[in-house]
Amino acid sequence: MNNLAIKAVGITKRFPGVTANDNVSFELRVGEIHVLLGENGAGKTTLMNILAGLYSKDSGEIYVWGQKVEIKSPQDALKLGIYLVPQTPKLVRSMTVLENVVIGLKKAGIILPTRKVRDLVEGLTKSYHIIVDIDAPVYRLSASEQKRIELLKALIRHARILIFDELTTSLSPSEKADLLKFMRKFARSGGAIIFVTHKMHEVFEVGDRVTVMRNGRVVGTFDVSEVTPDKLTELMFGKSIKPESIPRLTKPGDVMFRIDNLWVDLDGYKCVRGVSLDLHSGEILGLAGVAGNGQKELVETIIGIRQPSKGKIYAKLNGKFVDITDKPTIWRLKSGISYIPEDRIRQGIIPDMTVMENVILGFRFSEDAISGLLINWSKIKAQVSEIIKKYEIATPSADVLAKYLSGGNIQKLIIAREFESKPTILIAFNPTLGLDASSTRYIWEMLIEMRNKGAAILLISEDLDEILSLSDRIAVISEGEIRGIFSREEARLDDIGRLMVRAK
Ligand SMILES: Nc1ncnc2c1ncn2[C@@H]1O[C@H](COP(=O)(O)OP(=O)(O)O)[C@@H](O)[C@H]1O
Ligand SMILES: [Mg+2]
Repeated sequence: MNNLAIKAVGITKRFPGVTANDNVSFELRVGEIHVLLGENGAGKTTLMNILAGLYSKDSGEIYVWGQKVEIKSPQDALKLGIYLVPQTPKLVRSMTVLENVVIGLKKAGIILPTRKVRDLVEGLTKSYHIIVDIDAPVYRLSASEQKRIELLKALIRHARILIFDELTTSLSPSEKADLLKFMRKFARSGGAIIFVTHKMHEVFEVGDRVTVMRNGRVVGTFDVSEVTPDKLTELMFGKSIKPESIPRLTKPGDVMFRIDNLWVDLDGYKCVRGVSLDLHSGEILGLAGVAGNGQKELVETIIGIRQPSKGKIYAKLNGKFVDITDKPTIWRLKSGISYIPEDRIRQGIIPDMTVMENVILGFRFSEDAISGLLINWSKIKAQVSEIIKKYEIATPSADVLAKYLSGGNIQKLIIAREFESKPTILIAFNPTLGLDASSTRYIWEMLIEMRNKGAAILLISEDLDEILSLSDRIAVISEGEIRGIFSREEARLDDIGRLMVRAK
C-alpha cells in the first residue's frame, strides 16, 4: 500500500434518480499519470469531486498516502495534497500572476516570508517549464497563460495529487504538449495525476495506466502499454464503434455558398479579417480554430445576426446566386440556409414550446396535413411522432416542453428538424459541444448523410477530432484570418495545430 497515493474502495454516490458512482474502487499509484476514461455521464466527475472534497460520498472508504481519511472540504483535500485543477481558472484579473498565486495561502495553512515567495514562484516556473511572466497583470494574459497560473497555485500549495477533469478540451495541440511535459515532471518527482477524459487518443498520449468507467461503475483498469483502443472502446460503450467506418468523400459539386473578403468589427476590434471561403455542394468544409479566434462573429455574420464592416456573402438559392449580405436572418433561414447553433438552448429551440412545436418550427408537412388554411393537427402529430422515433429523440411524449430534454436530445431534435427540411446549405457551429459520445456519433452520421445527399456544409468546430473525422477540406482560422486550407489528403494534424496557434 506504500506505493499508493489514493485507494478508494466501494464508493457509492446517488443523486435523485441516478447512481452516479456505484461501488467504485480506484487506485492511484505514486509517480503515475492515471487516465480516467468514460463517456459523458459515466460518473468520472462525481468520483473526482468526492476525492476533492466537493461532494460527500454515500458509502465507501478512501485512503490517501496509506491513511484512512474523511475528505469533507477542498481544504481537507488540500491538506492531503489533493488539488483539483478547475476548468476555468479562478483569478483576480487586476492582480498580477504572483499575487494570484499567493492569495489564500495563509488560509491554506501555508505561511511563507514574503520576500521568499517571489523567488519560490520564479523557481517553480523554471523547474516545471511553466512559461508565464509572474509580474504581468492577469488581464493581459491569454486564456492559456491564465491556465498555467493554476499549476503554480497547486505547486506552491504543495499539492502532490493533481486532478485534471476534461481540461484539455479547449487547449491547442502545442498547449497540450506543454501540459503533458508538466504532468510527466510532476508525476515523476513523487506526485501523481488523475487525468479525466472521454477522448480515446488522450489515453495513449498521456497515460501510464487507464481506468474505464461506464454507467457509474468501473469496468476495468489496465497498463496503457497493454491495452488497445478497440478494447477500451468496447468497455466504454459496451460495443465497438470505429470512427474509420464513417464513409467519406463524394465528388463535390457547384459552389453553393461564398464568403468574399469578409471583415467584422467588434467594438473597434477587427475580429474577422478578410475571410474568403467557397463552399461546394456535397462537401463538408471544416473550419478549425481555437475558440475565440473570430469563429463566433463569422458565424453570426453568416446567419445575419451581425453585419460585416466589409465584404459579401453569396448563396445559391433555388438555382440562383444571390447576394445575401444584407438579408435578415429569418429570410436566410427560410430560403434554405440551415443552422445548427452552438448555443442550442438559446438559438436552436424555443425552450418553452413543446417538442412537437419545436419540430414544426422548421418543417414542411405533407400536403394532406395542411390544405388551404386548415391544419390537420392529428396528421401533424402523427408525423412528428414518426420523426421522434426515426431520430431516436428520448422524450416521454411530443407534448413535453423542449427545455426538459437532455442536451443530446435537444441537439437531435434540431438536427431532425433541419434534416427533414432537406437543406442545401448547412452551417454547423460546434454541433456536438458537450454531447456524450453516442449522441456525437449520431450527429456525425447525420452530417455525413446530408453531405452525401448533396448539402454544402460548413462545419465550424474547436474539436479537432471532429474536424478531422468529418471534413473533406479543412480551413484553419487564427486571429480572424484564414491561415491555410487543406484537402483531406494533405491535412496533417501537426500542421493544422501549428497554424491554429501561430501568431502573425
Ligand atoms: N450535482 C448533481 N446532481 C444531480 N445529478 C448529478 C450531479 N452530478 C452528476 N450527476 C449525475 O450523475 C451522473 C454522472 O455524472 P458525472 O459524474 O458528471 O459524469 P462524467 O463526469 O463521467 O460525465 C450523470 O447522470 C449526472 O447527470
Ligand atoms: Mg465530467
